[in-house]
Amino acid sequence: NWTPDSFVESTVNGLKAQLGNDKVVLGLSGGVDSSVAGVLLNRAIGKNLTCIFVDNGLLRKNEFEDVLHSYKDMGLNVIGVDARKKFWDDLAGVTDPEQKRKIIGRNFIEVFDEEAHKIQDVKWLAQGTIYPDVIESVSVNGPSATIKSHHNVGGLPEKMNLKVVEPLKLLFKDEVRRVGKAMNIKQELLGRHPFPGPGLGIRILGDVTPEKVNMLQEADAIFINGLKKWGLYDDVWQAGVMLLPVQSVGVMGDERTYENTVALRAVASTDGMTADWVHLPYDFLAKMSNEIINKVRGINRVVYDISSKPPATIEWE
Ligand code: XMP
Repeated sequence: NWTPDSFVESTVNGLKAQLGNDKVVLGLSGGVDSSVAGVLLNRAIGKNLTCIFVDNGLLRKNEFEDVLHSYKDMGLNVIGVDARKKFWDDLAGVTDPEQKRKIIGRNFIEVFDEEAHKIQDVKWLAQGTIYPDVIESVSVNGPSATIKSHHNVGGLPEKMNLKVVEPLKLLFKDEVRRVGKAMNIKQELLGRHPFPGPGLGIRILGDVTPEKVNMLQEADAIFINGLKKWGLYDDVWQAGVMLLPVQSVGVMGDERTYENTVALRAVASTDGMTADWVHLPYDFLAKMSNEIINKVRGINRVVYDISSKPPATIEWE
């Protein structure tokens, strides 16, 4: 019978036997899957595992620093790479969502590949792939694969000429969380909402600029921290803020403003394939709207997305 502890024990032993004294590289994203994979591999092979965490300039506010810090706290051998400028430069002027995804995916592979080559004699690429990812990439005609290209890092193992090791390949998300808990990974990390690989890049509708990233990071931090403060975070499967390419008239003191709109999004779901918008309390929404408009320069209007999936999707791009 399956228990998280027995899984950890047998997987660590299996990884030791499989990997021996080989060197392994793993991309960390700050998400649950790659973090749990990292801790498992660290138990099995320690310093022979090198983790790479890339700041693509599209992460949440302070996320790079915070997550890097907690990885180091967990004893992982992790390299943080600030590649913000490279991503921003390549995204300049690009408005098509799929094009943005391609650029972000390609840049990630380039940065990762360059870092991985600095490590001597790497033989393996580890990935935090879980069972639903396996099914999704087998059924390439499945809805999410055709509507939006989620496979941001497809092609990485081929390009790098490495063998692939995927210790979570047979687990579902809730099992991954239980395994993480059994290895004492903080609840704060295990309970994190999913966050798309292309990050804020697909939550800034239209072209991405560093100024827009900054504006969205501020608004998003207010919303996410607000959900936590109000005890709503764990009732929501995923939440975030979209920066719309829409300016509208407002009034600030006795000045007319003509500034940006953000949409708040919070959904309930089990797997992201279908989702309902969450009936957040009006008091909470009022508070968020005030706080965002008062604190974030450049935003003068906040709307709440009340669309379910289908027919809408969770992300706006
Ligand atoms: P949609 O917008 O398709 O999102 O309803 C469903 C789930 O997938 C995430 N998502 C992505 N994740 N790369 C990712 O890694 C992507 O390009 C991507 N697009 C959407 C989305 O955040 C939600 O959890």
